[in-house]
Amino acid sequence: MKKLEGKVAVITGGNSGIGLATAQRFVSEGAYVFITGRRQSEVDAAVKQIGKDVTGVQGDVSKLADLDRLYADVKRQKGHVNILFANAGLGEFAPLEAITESHFDKTFSVNVKGLLFTVQKALPLFRNGGSIILNASTAAFKAAGGSSVYGATKAAVRSFARSWTVELNRSSRSRRSLYPPYQWNVWEVLTKLQKSSHSSRQMIAVLSPVSNCS
Ligand SMILES: NC(=O)c1ccc[n+]([C@@H]2O[C@H](COP(=O)([O-])OP(=O)(O)OC[C@H]3O[C@@H](n4cnc5c(N)ncnc54)[C@H](OP(=O)(O)O)[C@@H]3O)[C@@H](O)[C@H]2O)c1
Repeated sequence: MKKLEGKVAVITGGNSGIGLATAQRFVSEGAYVFITGRRQSEVDAAVKQIGKDVTGVQGDVSKLADLDRLYADVKRQKGHVNILFANAGLGEFAPLEAITESHFDKTFSVNVKGLLFTVQKALPLFRNGGSIILNASTAAFKAAGGSSVYGATKAAVRSFARSWTVELNRSSRSRRSLYPPYQWNVWEVLTKLQKSSHSSRQMIAVLSPVSNCS
């Protein structure tokens, strides 16, 4: 039996890069995946590339109505979620003196607000445990020219992971039927993705403390 046989995964930003590679790997491990992205043409192309056990749902994670539509689709088709990879994100760079309100709003809207509601709105679809994986970055704690806004969004993601681990574990003890125990088992999932990939190694380095941060 394959590792993810029978599992349902949602991967935001699944039409390119890390998200697409993850979707391909999950399907090869036996999962059914839902992928998202803002560009319908790229979502369609990714669905074709993945080939089977995949549904593409066009949507923008920073728009709450799009997230509602995504999870309504997941619920209608599969009824539940086992794995959520909140991966959609963007990185546009600007040095301090060149940061604009629009750069700030756009980056926080997708990387922080979008990620938060991606997770929050998925919670009712989890049952009997599951995995929630947040895509952060070494930019959360490493300085690089022009990356202050992007890095701040990724630091927020790391902070979310710490707080939510505490909240969801507490919920799972007190309200098991509503919030089953979530695992932030980054190693289990990510080490299987792209062992040789630089990006994947970066994510593992960033996210691995999450599993014991509570
Ligand atoms: N590449 C790296 O070295 C690296 C390192 C650390 C962390 N990360 C993080 O990894 C994640 C994926 O990055 P990547 O390198 O794979 O980049 P990528 O190839 O550009 O992929 C980004 C994905 O997110 C989607 N996306 C962007 N904004 C979205 C939105 N508002 N709503 C829904 N989907 C959206 C894009 O599709 P559409 O454009 O069609 O929406 C695309 O599928 C990001 O969170 C990034 O910060 C990357």
